[in-house]
Amino acid sequence: MMTTAAPILAVDNVHVIYGQSILALRGITLRVNEGSIVALLGANGAGKTTTLKAISSLVRAERGRVAQGEIRFRGDIITHADAAGLVRRGIVQVLEGRRCFAHLTVEQNIVAGGYAHRPSRRVLADDLDRVYTWFPRLKQRRRTAAGLNSGGEQQMIAIGRALMTRPKLMLLDEPSMGLAPMLVEEIFEIIRNLNRREGVSFLLAEQNTGFALRYADHAYVVENGQVSAHGTAADLAARTDMASLYLGAIATD
Ligand SMILES: Nc1ncnc2c1ncn2[C@@H]1O[C@H](COP(=O)(O)OP(=O)(O)OP(=O)(O)O)[C@@H](O)[C@H]1O
Ligand SMILES: [Mg+2]
Repeated sequence: MMTTAAPILAVDNVHVIYGQSILALRGITLRVNEGSIVALLGANGAGKTTTLKAISSLVRAERGRVAQGEIRFRGDIITHADAAGLVRRGIVQVLEGRRCFAHLTVEQNIVAGGYAHRPSRRVLADDLDRVYTWFPRLKQRRRTAAGLNSGGEQQMIAIGRALMTRPKLMLLDEPSMGLAPMLVEEIFEIIRNLNRREGVSFLLAEQNTGFALRYADHAYVVENGQVSAHGTAADLAARTDMASLYLGAIATD
């Protein structure tokens, strides 16, 4: 029997306005199927981060709002849900640039993600162990100040902190940013394994099209706050016009 994966996330015709009048998204529509990895590609300012923040409700922290359209998580409308409630439901965003608390230890940073579900000490300790299983390097460095760790390690801390919330859907903003190719590969391998072994679905914004298309199942190209192309990662990677689609206005002839 054929089974069609149900979308864990459905974004329909979403418009986002910042402040009084900046229209950052002009009708974004996309799907993330349960258990898949979806990439959001696009040039600077295209609207990738805003799309992620519209889903996690973090746009509100920047005086942004979803002015039109609908967002559903596992069928439930979450368009105007509060951000903390979304974390408890299983949607977590890892912000661009890692955002570690530099003066806290690695472990304090990770544990900070764990309180969303008001866990017992036991559960918190188990979840922390789980994060260290994924990131053994962080266990070695657990008592060091987060700010003294490398960019790649800080990205791991940020992902580890997000894992403490037991997410069903992780929104990752530019996980490869500022990292050497080997570390990008390491981070993407961890994303793939979390996806395959723990069933976490991913929506990730990436400027690094090559890596994103290697690891994603499906991808959307965002241009000027709208989706200009989408398809399976393999199809998009094969398209010769990808470079111009992706680069948008700065495309060369
Ligand atoms: N807090 C904000 N207030 C006002 N305008 C904003 C705000 N954040 C983003 N914008 C505008 O919204 C548009 C989309 O920005 P967004 O950050 O979503 O793009 P992006 O695709 O993530 O870009 P980048 O690749 O540079 O991260 C841009 O025109 C940007 O200037
Ligand atoms: Mg961005």
